[in-house]
Amino acid sequence: MRLNRRQMLCRSAASFAVIGGVPVMLHAQAADDGFTVLKIQKVPKAILEGGKETELWTYNGVNPGPEIRVQRHGEVKVRLVNGLDEPTMLHWHGIRIDNAMDGSPLTQNPVEPGETFDYVFAAPDAGTYWYHPHVGSSRQVEQGLYGALIVADETPPADTGELTLVLDDWLINDDGVIDPQSFGDIRMAAHGGRLGNWFTVNGLSRPRLAAPAGRRLRLRLINCANARIMNLQFKGAEPHIVALDGQPLSTARALGPDPLQLGPGGRADLMVRRSTEEIIMAHVNTANELLEVAYIERTGERGEADTGAIAGLPGNGLPETLDITGITPTELVMEGGAMGGLAGAKLRGRDVGMRELVQNGMAWAFNGVAGMTEEPLASLKFGETAVFDFINKTAWPHAMHLHGHHVLPLTIDDKPVAGHDWRDTVVMAADSKMRVAFVADNPGKWMLHCHMLEHQAAGMMTWVNVEI
Ligand code: C2O
Ligand code: CU
Repeated sequence: MRLNRRQMLCRSAASFAVIGGVPVMLHAQAADDGFTVLKIQKVPKAILEGGKETELWTYNGVNPGPEIRVQRHGEVKVRLVNGLDEPTMLHWHGIRIDNAMDGSPLTQNPVEPGETFDYVFAAPDAGTYWYHPHVGSSRQVEQGLYGALIVADETPPADTGELTLVLDDWLINDDGVIDPQSFGDIRMAAHGGRLGNWFTVNGLSRPRLAAPAGRRLRLRLINCANARIMNLQFKGAEPHIVALDGQPLSTARALGPDPLQLGPGGRADLMVRRSTEEIIMAHVNTANELLEVAYIERTGERGEADTGAIAGLPGNGLPETLDITGITPTELVMEGGAMGGLAGAKLRGRDVGMRELVQNGMAWAFNGVAGMTEEPLASLKFGETAVFDFINKTAWPHAMHLHGHHVLPLTIDDKPVAGHDWRDTVVMAADSKMRVAFVADNPGKWMLHCHMLEHQAAGMMTWVNVEI
């Protein structure tokens, strides 16, 4: 199902301000010992005004979950309390984190219902990150479990306000209830994933947000959708991209007329000049229709004219480029999905045909294996520079995400990539190749998977070992 104009318009015209809607900072609960408590609670909410209530799964009763903020190099201390009737865990997406705190099935046992788990880690990089569950994530994230993790710059840009914009699309039925049938739907998993029909920004449909006119504005965008690649345009502003996936670009880059592409899991920080103009954020869908998703009103005095150049942010110490001469790339061949012609793959150590794969909820394979492997895709020495070739032989785009590191895309279809942007989640077009490089400087077991959560669940998952 694709987000189309009719659904968006008729639903949002009638309804307003429904999920969540309370300033998130109010909901961060501090325990006596300095931990921020994130307690999972099920909350009934009417997504559509006058519609039926649906069950949201929330951290501390709100969607998105509380924004967690820490200074660069500061310590994050979060106590997760599992109020679900199924296991969960918390992954800190994009953080170059201590492996034990990564919150993936490679690093910890699931947190059982009623149990708690304490996450304590340093945040080495300033930037925009997020948190979400890493078991049953297709269901748990869709039900509302996610939130922003902001690591504040040591010297924030002068005279600049900021807004965090947590983006999601939900798949709801006509009565406004999250479509239960779609969970585990193998057809969706074998296509573009579980795409929604109801777009929210900070839990609200087409919210009106306010930002002062007399200061510059930093927008921190986070794509928390299960599978949707967002294409965002901004009317009333000429934003500059200053960071992607948390990492500052070496120089600020004007967005230009093309939309900003943000894959699931991806983040972008945009800088906007002082202005009195309202900013309209829109998503451009595959039919090239513009769907307005949020309005930012500039309030108060404008101040003096703002025509100065927009400066880049200070970096986090990642190099401009990497020397990869003499390094043999590790190949990751991505296969399967609808129109993919996959005949079969290895599943839990056994060769099985497509029929049996599908019976087991699998539709995709990495290097001929569906789902998690015993052996890592690569075993790297500490400090070694690694080169990965992602070879997408499928008819679908994917969003490849490596835990614990950022990677530098070098080539797409053998052509050099312009810019040196460190990413933790890279969007690949259907039937394309991408070469990335990174320094394996974070020891431990790190997942590498497609961040279209249904693709991940249906087979697109492996891992990388970094030895000490
Ligand atoms: Cu954002 Cu492995 O996940
Ligand atoms: Cu995918």
